Amino acid sequence: MKLTTKLLAATAMVSASAVSAVELEVTHWWTSGGEAAAVAKFAEAWDATGNTWVDGAIAGSGGTARPIIISRILGGDPMGATQLNHGRQAEELIEAGLLLDLTDVAEAQGWKDIVNPSSLLDACTLDGRIYCAPVNIHSWQWIWLSHDAFEKAGVDVPANWDEFAAAAPKLEEADLVPLAMGQQGWQQNGAFGVMTVAIAGLDAWRKVVVDKDADAARGPEYAAVFEAAVDAREMAANSNVQDWNQATNMVITGQAGGQIMGDWAQGEFQVAGQVAGEDYTCLPGLGVNEILDTGGDAFYFPVQDDPEIEAAQKEFAAMLLSPEVQVSFNLAKGSLPVRGDVDLSAANDCMQKGLEILAAGGIMPSGDMNLSADTQTQIEDLMAEFWSSDMSAADAQERYASIIETAD
Ligand code: GAL
Repeated sequence: MKLTTKLLAATAMVSASAVSAVELEVTHWWTSGGEAAAVAKFAEAWDATGNTWVDGAIAGSGGTARPIIISRILGGDPMGATQLNHGRQAEELIEAGLLLDLTDVAEAQGWKDIVNPSSLLDACTLDGRIYCAPVNIHSWQWIWLSHDAFEKAGVDVPANWDEFAAAAPKLEEADLVPLAMGQQGWQQNGAFGVMTVAIAGLDAWRKVVVDKDADAARGPEYAAVFEAAVDAREMAANSNVQDWNQATNMVITGQAGGQIMGDWAQGEFQVAGQVAGEDYTCLPGLGVNEILDTGGDAFYFPVQDDPEIEAAQKEFAAMLLSPEVQVSFNLAKGSLPVRGDVDLSAANDCMQKGLEILAAGGIMPSGDMNLSADTQTQIEDLMAEFWSSDMSAADAQERYASIIETAD
């Protein structure tokens, strides 16, 4: 081979490998201590493939991040990959043809066989095509209790919501906040959903959230939930924090008795070095019924007219479901893996409890899977108003029922 030919071949090889290393901007709203520790696992795994993770963290909650993410995609400034909650949030983007079809990756990796429960994959599927890679199961159905706070108040750590409510005056006497609650509609609505399942029961919840039955929303079971929400509002009257992780911090530091929050809270206890069962207790279903909703996070990939980026997006999607990444990410995040065939023996007590409930089939769908983004926003706005005013249980219930009446 002549020297020039050799050189040309070498240059071609160098540029081929340089070109195949793609910088992928990844947007997400994982900015608390626990969340940042978890998303770092994805970044490390991606960088280890020779590609580059360009971090696109958006501070605040999903409610802040989602409109930014969606307007970038609609406005022609797409990121390489983005977190959203799997469910109905991406529906319109998919219909507009703006999100990459991942069906070939899903088939190659056998997602239909490994993803458990299958509803996670259904939530990524439209007209038989798969548009997202689910990465975890996150459930709202938990309350997190501070051992320190209950010890200071001289009462046993409650085993259920009624005991918690009964202990609230003692916590107040000890100058503690019974219930930590961030002042944001999505947190208040999440807690309301958990209280609904515990107090009104799953059947009533299904009638309202799945069937959009406004009569059920006006009925006695829901009236009891709104009454309990008034009590919870009183318990949280001195909880002057905004972000969910600030509220979790009140539990971690023993300033508050408990917080109703999804199991991403677990990441915060972990970063703070707290041990489940010793420093804090987690009760699924408010200690009333052992159930998990199967919401969670998924990654979507905006369509880009560049075969190299598209190949990298598919490589990224496959990486997210690889057994190693499923284990490292979910252990840090406090969420459950989307595949049942990975070894989570290193999980803490609360995650083990979650895994047991999942294995026993104690699952329900999430609100995100059933209500449109528009309906969710209307409900969250109502909750924000309810929690920051003295709106009566009856007024809140009627306003809630009229949202359900026109919900889609
Ligand atoms: C949820 C998301 C979780 C968690 C939480 C708080 O929407 O599914 O992963 O991060 O927001 O930021």
